[in-house]
Amino acid sequence: GRTVRVALLGCGTVGSEVARLLTEQAGELAARAGAPVELAGIAVRRPDKHPELPQHLLTADAAALVESDVDVVVELIGGIEPVRTWLLTALRKGKSVVTANKALLSEHSGELSEAADAGGADLYFEASVAGAIPLLRPLRESLAGDRITKVMGIVNGTTNFILSAMDSTGAGYAETLDEASRLGYAEADPTADVDGYDAASKAAILASLAFHTRVTASDVHREGISGVTASDIAAAKALGRTVKLLAICERVTADDGTESVSARVHPVMLPRPHPLASVGGAFNAVFVEADAAGELMFYGQGAGGAPTASAVLGDLVAVARNRVQGGHGPRESAHANLPVRPMGQT
Ligand code: NDP
Ligand code: HSE
Repeated sequence: GRTVRVALLGCGTVGSEVARLLTEQAGELAARAGAPVELAGIAVRRPDKHPELPQHLLTADAAALVESDVDVVVELIGGIEPVRTWLLTALRKGKSVVTANKALLSEHSGELSEAADAGGADLYFEASVAGAIPLLRPLRESLAGDRITKVMGIVNGTTNFILSAMDSTGAGYAETLDEASRLGYAEADPTADVDGYDAASKAAILASLAFHTRVTASDVHREGISGVTASDIAAAKALGRTVKLLAICERVTADDGTESVSARVHPVMLPRPHPLASVGGAFNAVFVEADAAGELMFYGQGAGGAPTASAVLGDLVAVARNRVQGGHGPRESAHANLPVRPMGQT
């Protein structure tokens, strides 16, 4: 088949691992996609800061790269604008998009899905929640025939890294946050992690997929870990508990039988034997409950360059394969639109 040409937007912690794996595993990726998958260009903010990359591929003009002769746009820059505009343009022109951008998806998934439908393009975002863990595809596809009632777990690696260190070594909050940034776990602005915005974005994405409705980050009740002190951790320990930041998304049935969705993010004191209590470092773990399946648990590396790149490349193979075979990824147009409960009412 014809070569699938990929525009890579952003080459930082995640993008650089995607570029590396795309190059090193070109043969395997081509075999799995059914056509060569070729890096057509890499957009970064400061091309002069990237002597390690093939210079002929580098540009500071992401908009022009999106408009050029590419089939797929892989977005690993982050934030809302100007990325939102670029991705809407790409999708409307029929270029598939793979992104890890939970901030964007949790606010604008509606218009992005509509643009994908209009352009006949795919929108894949497995890496946006829980890093390397295959979680969104199971919710969208494997469990599509079941009725999910709850999704609950640890979805932010940075805060889990901080809370685990405070619990096990008594390390301080600020020094551990610095280390999380150095290891590539934290967001460009780490207040997104510690104040729970990142987890709230992920909760919105999870609730939307699990309950076939549209939940945005502003619908999610949010409390971060900046108020958690060393003495809180010590008090929890004395009670045989540990503190974890959890995202909890539930299908709620009122007395009159009407259903709605509730999503919240806040620190929880978990009993030590609870399976989520032993999730350490930047790992994530998510429980899914469904009527027929019962309880499922997903566990793995939730942040960092290579783990996140694994999910991005899986999506890239899927969109390339769809292009080669003439298929399409899941469409969100069939939303039942369960109402979302106002914040705080749980
Ligand atoms: P980084 O800050 O490491 O990288 C961002 C990249 O975007 C850099 O290469 C930067 O260029 C480039 N960039 C910024 N602005 C522009 C612009 N206007 N035009 C072109 N390029 C630009 O971020 P991460 O790799 O950590 O994160 C990327 C995305 O992945 C975010 O959406 C994040 O939320 C998400 N994500 C991150 C995870 C992680 O563990 N780090 C895990 C899951 C998702 P330059 O190099 O020149 O500065
Ligand atoms: N900053 C995020 C985290 C990256 O720590 O979980 C993964 O989405």
